Amino acid sequence: MKIGIVGAGRMGSALARLWAKAGHEVILSDIMPPEKLEAIAHAIGPQARVASVEEAARVAEVLLLAVPWASVRDVVAACGSLAGKIVLDVINPVKADFSDLEFGFTTSASEEIAKLADGARVCKALNTIPSPVFHLPECKISGMKVSGFYCGDDDEAKRTVAQLVADAGFEPVDCGPLSSARYLEAVGMLLIRIVVALKASPELALTLIRDQKPCC
Ligand SMILES: NC(=O)c1ccc[n+]([C@@H]2O[C@H](COP(=O)([O-])OP(=O)(O)OC[C@H]3O[C@@H](n4cnc5c(N)ncnc54)[C@H](OP(=O)(O)O)[C@@H]3O)[C@@H](O)[C@H]2O)c1
Repeated sequence: MKIGIVGAGRMGSALARLWAKAGHEVILSDIMPPEKLEAIAHAIGPQARVASVEEAARVAEVLLLAVPWASVRDVVAACGSLAGKIVLDVINPVKADFSDLEFGFTTSASEEIAKLADGARVCKALNTIPSPVFHLPECKISGMKVSGFYCGDDDEAKRTVAQLVADAGFEPVDCGPLSSARYLEAVGMLLIRIVVALKASPELALTLIRDQKPCC
């Protein structure tokens, strides 16, 4: 699959590396100096290349948005039409001082992206996994697979995103409609507070433990 990546920082570059390793083609775009972006693509290997935000968005079957919330409006404008495109958003809309989220529980970054990117099939995924976890062997913690929570309103887009979550090395967990992003983003914020409170290394994550019996 062709995966466009906007924002090749901690999250974007780590996911690009994992997806390239799983056989996907990754197209990286960022506002960082071009030589730095080229070096990231080069380190990933022949399945990675660099493009403008517009080209990455146009050619991608799935577009990863891995930029700070404050850049989202500009990024969506730079992408051009995203109608019909699967947009995978990992964004936690934290305030600049990391004190809180920009939204309460009446909307979310994902729902706001869906409003900005008319017709895009937006899914939230992987926002509850701190980026250092992407660098652990097989992305496992203490030998356990980490949950890759995701949500969205389009069933076909969700199936694709679930596959990409699995391809990156995580256990996909369907969290229902896109409005569940309100709660996934709150969990992302909670993890930031846990790291601060525990003075912990961010190599931690949440994993759903469940009985496999159907309940109803
Ligand atoms: N890091 C984590 O552990 C983690 C975990 C879960 C979710 N997230 C979410 O993932 C997103 C990315 O986080 P990150 O930690 O990967 O951030 P990061 O390391 O700062 O990377 C973001 C990249 O996006 C670039 N960027 C900013 N505005 C842009 C624009 N208009 N067009 C293209 N590129 C642009 C930035 O460039 P400049 O640096 O030059 O501005 C930077 O290279 C955030 O929304 C965050 O909440 C992060």
